[in-house]
Amino acid sequence: MRDAAPQTIYLSDYKPFGFEVTSVSLTFDLDPTATRVKSRIAFVPKPDAGGRMFLHGEKLKLISAQIDGAPVTPDLSDEGLTCAVPDAPFIWEAEVEIDPQNNLALEGLYMSNGMYCTQCEAEGFRKITYYPDRPDVMSIFTVTINGPHPVLLSNGNPVSAADGHAEWHDPWPKPAYLFALVAGELVAHPGSFTTKSGRTVDLNLYVRPGDEGKCAFGMQALKDSMKWDEDVYGREYDLDIFNIVAVDDFNMGAMENKGLNIFNSAAVLASPETSTDTNFERIEAIIAHEYFHNWTGNRITCRDWFQLCLKEGLTVFRDSQFTSDMRSAAVKRISDVIELRGRQFPEDQGPLSHPVRPESFQEINNFYTATVYDKGAEVIGMLRRLVGADAYANALDLYFDRHDGQACTIEDWLKVFEDATGRDLTQFKRWYSQAGTPRVTVKDAWYAGNYILSFTQNLKPSATTPDPQPQVIPIVTGLLSPSGKESVPSQVLELTEATQSFTFEGLPERPVPSVLRGFSAPVVLESELSEDHAAFLLAHDTDPFNRWEAGRGLARASLLAMIRGGTDPDPKYLDGIRAVLGDAGLDPAYRALMLSLPSQSDLATALHDAGETPDPAAIWAASEAMREAQAQHLADLLPGLYADHQITESFAPDASQSGRRSLANATLSLLGRLESPERAQAQFDAADNMTQQLAGLAVLLRQKAGKSALQSFETQWKEDRLVMDKWFGLQVMQAEPDAVASTAATLTGHADFNWKNPNRFRAVLGALATHHAGFHHASGAGYRLLADWLIKLDPLNPQTTARMCSAFQTWKRYDADRQALISTELDRILALPDLSRDTTEMLTRIRGS
Ligand code: BES
Ligand code: ZN
Repeated sequence: MRDAAPQTIYLSDYKPFGFEVTSVSLTFDLDPTATRVKSRIAFVPKPDAGGRMFLHGEKLKLISAQIDGAPVTPDLSDEGLTCAVPDAPFIWEAEVEIDPQNNLALEGLYMSNGMYCTQCEAEGFRKITYYPDRPDVMSIFTVTINGPHPVLLSNGNPVSAADGHAEWHDPWPKPAYLFALVAGELVAHPGSFTTKSGRTVDLNLYVRPGDEGKCAFGMQALKDSMKWDEDVYGREYDLDIFNIVAVDDFNMGAMENKGLNIFNSAAVLASPETSTDTNFERIEAIIAHEYFHNWTGNRITCRDWFQLCLKEGLTVFRDSQFTSDMRSAAVKRISDVIELRGRQFPEDQGPLSHPVRPESFQEINNFYTATVYDKGAEVIGMLRRLVGADAYANALDLYFDRHDGQACTIEDWLKVFEDATGRDLTQFKRWYSQAGTPRVTVKDAWYAGNYILSFTQNLKPSATTPDPQPQVIPIVTGLLSPSGKESVPSQVLELTEATQSFTFEGLPERPVPSVLRGFSAPVVLESELSEDHAAFLLAHDTDPFNRWEAGRGLARASLLAMIRGGTDPDPKYLDGIRAVLGDAGLDPAYRALMLSLPSQSDLATALHDAGETPDPAAIWAASEAMREAQAQHLADLLPGLYADHQITESFAPDASQSGRRSLANATLSLLGRLESPERAQAQFDAADNMTQQLAGLAVLLRQKAGKSALQSFETQWKEDRLVMDKWFGLQVMQAEPDAVASTAATLTGHADFNWKNPNRFRAVLGALATHHAGFHHASGAGYRLLADWLIKLDPLNPQTTARMCSAFQTWKRYDADRQALISTELDRILALPDLSRDTTEMLTRIRGS
């Protein structure tokens, strides 16, 4: 382990910076291994500044430093410098040298395929120059770039450009984490947008030569996002130019740098031949997300990194609203809940559990989590549900008015809602401070014409939440008559007590309840209602989410019974989805979702919740048996469904076509269990788009008939790195549990396995970690292989390594043998002498005491 004890940062220790920064001017002389950065920064001491100033700085070679033109000799440390300063306004000037070429952590200024780019969130700017690298220090930046590249970009508006030189000025004060610089041989895909007040904004998507053909969709998504933010939030763009750059080596999906968003090329480049429908939808959402940050994150930013959900939770909520408006709201809600249960619930129920607003951290990069993002977005959704759409809109207007140009806290955010709506949000605030997934039990009763729903919040103490308090939980509820008609439409039941009942009067007969419609709160609902009740909702619920949820509940219950006792699949479930599949009035995308099963790790979670030890092999077997049962039970419908959802018009990545492809492909996959491989092979051969091609290949691989398709796919796409990521990943995903680790190991020996590229690394090792039965194979080979590669990656790229450690977060659920295998691997990694702070923190938390 690293020798210096890692430092813990606490929210309660927050202190403002002692100086205002009124302007920043940076000059870059680019060189792959010796880039020079000159800074000229105007500081104004606050009354209590105290004559000394600390500036962050890491891995910088200080060439010179001056205050008001006179050389100074600051005290240097690994974290930065300290310097005596005047108690009146002064100018700090420094020159540093950095080495972008050898920066493989992909944080700060680095190189990717010969182009320069930056990633500064959260604390990367300190690897570029000495600076108060904290989000509450906002300033106006002017940037000069000297370098022999045709494209030289930074934030804000262009001031001047000549051969080998460009100057940029950003008039909006911003924190350093939003700084960006790009230089390289790039080509622009241009566009333009006229804002609602009539200003023309130049848009560009910059890509590497050869990628020009993959820009049109992203450009359209950007225009749609700009329009939507004007229409729905009244937010107009505020510069003359908006640039997006695609970069191959990027730790995350994308970054919202002011006026210069930088994207992982996988999160922006799209074409029908190379991108799946899922890719298109994700690209549209990420472009929207980063664009929406211009107001929620950039114009109003975070006071400190504990407030991360202020920008991320809100912006995820906004991008999900956008996707719901652009596509199908029901499908988007179901997908979001699948994601929440698949990623956030395990996090919140395991050793990495933390509140939406954490109170301490060692490495902030480890807190860009499903909890901060997805639960953070759910919290905003609940707030909106509680106050209503109109009051929400008023509150947002007040938020933008009151806090524009500021670095804010969750307290500021909630105060805006209190002032705008008159509501007391004291109890609601617990959603930000109390970790863990609330559990709610519901019971019903029928007495003399009164229908009563009773809810109980289970407030069992846990390690992370020793003293849980009741939350405010909006439970959207509707009642159906026994004939399946909506008898009481959806209303919000506001649960605030540990136990609370709601009475419905004047009903002619005992109704059937539909509770937590639209998944109105991120809780686990434990219902004492029967499986007949679920089957009824699957047939009749008017709320599309709960109708789907009823099917999912039946599937889960049946799978759990199969895992426990080798029982047969529940005919109520199979009959129920059969009826839904056969209902041509329902959206094909929705019907496809009805066919999906709870993931194997979700089933492991459910078993663990029930106090049992999940057996990955048994979960795999039950899931396979259920798939077979679906195929058998729907056999007569499948060929017709497949044929009816083929698309004859030209390709469009819209919701309607992608829904049809998704149902056809779900059908193809089930047919693959009944037939020989001809159909899948024919689809693979004829495909003119990646969705169809990949779906065909997946079925062929599962049928063990994919050898030649795999080869022809490789030959066809060898030069396309994003498609090859799919080729690498799919082989692991489709492998049988026994073969997962060996398949992944073989692929890591492939000539094109460039492990320093995060996308390629994740394609193979990420697929290994998410193949439940393969990763948790009793041999321990999955654990070993992942650990080997994390050990290899950590010295280069701690951020990506640390994120991937979360594969181990559920380890204590499993049996003693697996726990022993995993703890051996955790200890092996933790014993490394120079393990990064990122990975050390993750594994120490996961390992526990
Ligand atoms: N601000 C983040 C990018 C980021 C994350 C920078 C972590 C530094 C550390 C950006 O807005 C973001 O949230 N990106 C997401 C995608 C989004 C659609 C949720 C990502 O990169 O995965
Ligand atoms: Zn974000």
